[in-house]
Amino acid sequence: MSGNDVRRKYLAFMEKNGHAIVPSSALIPENDPTTLFTGSGMQPMLPYLLGEKHPKGIRIADSQRCFRAEDIEEVGDNRHTTFFEMLGNWSFGDYFKKEQIEWMYEFLVKDVGINPNRLYISVFGGDELNNLPRDVDAPEIWRGLFAKAGIEAQIVNIGSEADGYERGMNPGERIFYYEAKKNWWSRAGIPNKMPIGEPGGPDSEMFYDFGTPHDTKYGKLCHPNCDCGRFMEIGNNVFMQYLKTGNNEFTELKNKNIDFGGGLERIVAASLHSSTGMADVFLTDLFTPTIFQIEQLSGKSYNDDLQSFRIVADHLRGAVFMIGDGIMPGNTDQDYFVRRLLRRAVRYADKLAIPAGKFSQLAQSVINTYNQHYPNLKDKEQLISEVIAHEEEQFRKTLEAGLKQFNKISLQIHVTSKVKNGKKVIDKSSVPTTKQVIGAQNAFDLYTTYGFPIELTEEIAAEKGLAVERSGFEILMEKHKVTSRAGAEQKFKGGLADNSERVIQLHTATHLMLAGLQKELGNHIHQAGSNITGERLRYDFTHPEKIDLGTLNRVEAYVNNAIAIGGQVTIEIVPKTEAQADSSIEASFWDRYPNEVKVYTMTGNDGTIFSKELCGGPHVKKLEDIKGIFKITKEESSSAGIRRIKATLV
Ligand code: ALA
Repeated sequence: MSGNDVRRKYLAFMEKNGHAIVPSSALIPENDPTTLFTGSGMQPMLPYLLGEKHPKGIRIADSQRCFRAEDIEEVGDNRHTTFFEMLGNWSFGDYFKKEQIEWMYEFLVKDVGINPNRLYISVFGGDELNNLPRDVDAPEIWRGLFAKAGIEAQIVNIGSEADGYERGMNPGERIFYYEAKKNWWSRAGIPNKMPIGEPGGPDSEMFYDFGTPHDTKYGKLCHPNCDCGRFMEIGNNVFMQYLKTGNNEFTELKNKNIDFGGGLERIVAASLHSSTGMADVFLTDLFTPTIFQIEQLSGKSYNDDLQSFRIVADHLRGAVFMIGDGIMPGNTDQDYFVRRLLRRAVRYADKLAIPAGKFSQLAQSVINTYNQHYPNLKDKEQLISEVIAHEEEQFRKTLEAGLKQFNKISLQIHVTSKVKNGKKVIDKSSVPTTKQVIGAQNAFDLYTTYGFPIELTEEIAAEKGLAVERSGFEILMEKHKVTSRAGAEQKFKGGLADNSERVIQLHTATHLMLAGLQKELGNHIHQAGSNITGERLRYDFTHPEKIDLGTLNRVEAYVNNAIAIGGQVTIEIVPKTEAQADSSIEASFWDRYPNEVKVYTMTGNDGTIFSKELCGGPHVKKLEDIKGIFKITKEESSSAGIRRIKATLV
């Protein structure tokens, strides 16, 4: 069964059972400053799990696009990916365990065709310290379902993961009690780690048994939570019914909720295995077009180097979805992860000997695979492939020199001062001990001069048996950030050289220009940097390519028209959450703003809203206070995916 089929069937199944189907939110969480990425379907649902009314009712389902940065280095086996889709359904105080478990069984076995003999279940064994009782209902519901299918399903106590490796499992055992570490879910993890005010609950996970032999590298005996690859978790039913109210203190939430999340790719892989015996997420149709493309470009076959194929395919897919959500390769926050994915992918593409300049082709195959369910990728097709091609090209410019530099550094470490004929010689064959590390300054130079993300340096180092002085690197990075920030603050407060009349006029003109750019080129344009003096504005923004003269002329005209018509600049102070929910308000750096934000609206005397943007000010009071003709003097590249405009009032 194809990925598109499984997604469609799930949503249809949930709709049939009374759920409203809602669209996926973006990869950057909207109202959740606690994480960089949407990593599970429940994140956008948090207010409703806490009791707020969802506009679509008390039964909701979706397929949420997710990104888990912590899994980047796990990619390479048959089931880990960074980007994935999470099928999700929620009950906000409506149905509970019985319906949820019965539906899941029905969906997986009847609709998707998963062999129930291969399904294994884990349940919550209780947590004494926090006075949280073991789940006695879920195991019985599961046992009843298996019994109906004539499948023996004994319920057994395991405890911790370590206990699992000692105890193993016997024939007929199918439902396993584990401790909170494994079968309790909250955004923060186990009960002790949850902050006060956070909701959570016991959960029941579903595993698919690939039936592969156990690998004792992971532990003596196999059990559902073993990492050897025999079992793959395909979904998690969370019984979200508690709220943390104090240290070791929990109360029942007003509503007993269901939060289900299942990995689309993994459910498709389980279905594929049930019908063909293939045990690999990357062999589902969500990946095969890209894997095929990599085979074509590299002249190698998938089985020649599974790890490199999987990394290139996964990272390209992740980058496509990120850029599709407006995240551009860069050095901070979410942007850094797009960069890290693409740069890591370049290295593995090199291992496969894929010729340079082919990333946009790979991006294209990802877009084609997904364009049915994600038309937004198709709409941004050109932007996505150009940004990816550009980042590939940028990194290739420094990669070779960086690797040379890397070798030089590691060679110095490998030196054992052998003295031969009175001269020191380098012993290249010496093996470094684990104590030997790449110094912080070297790692820092590799980052600033050659564009090596620190994790990439660590990975290459590990391949050579070396470690990297990470903490020292972090200190250098902090210093670097502080000095560049302090410099900027001294010179420009909020990007303004001073509060002179001319600077303020240019500042207001900058808002108008951004609105004009968005009108002409699209809403992917946001501020990436701004610096205004009495002479000129300098504005960096997200856009991948050169802007033609005709467009620049129309942007100028937009600004000059607003000045000519004249009008009011008004300030409104609103709660940040409210402003974020209003898509007509422009803002680039939500996390830099306090809980109450200032929205500047520029309304023409003819009623046109020329610009609505979050800002700290100051601005002119009336648009006609901007004196002169607005003129763009330069348009150029600033860095990958970022353009720079200089403009003035003449
Ligand atoms: N929120 C649960 C998870 O992410 C379903 O596993």
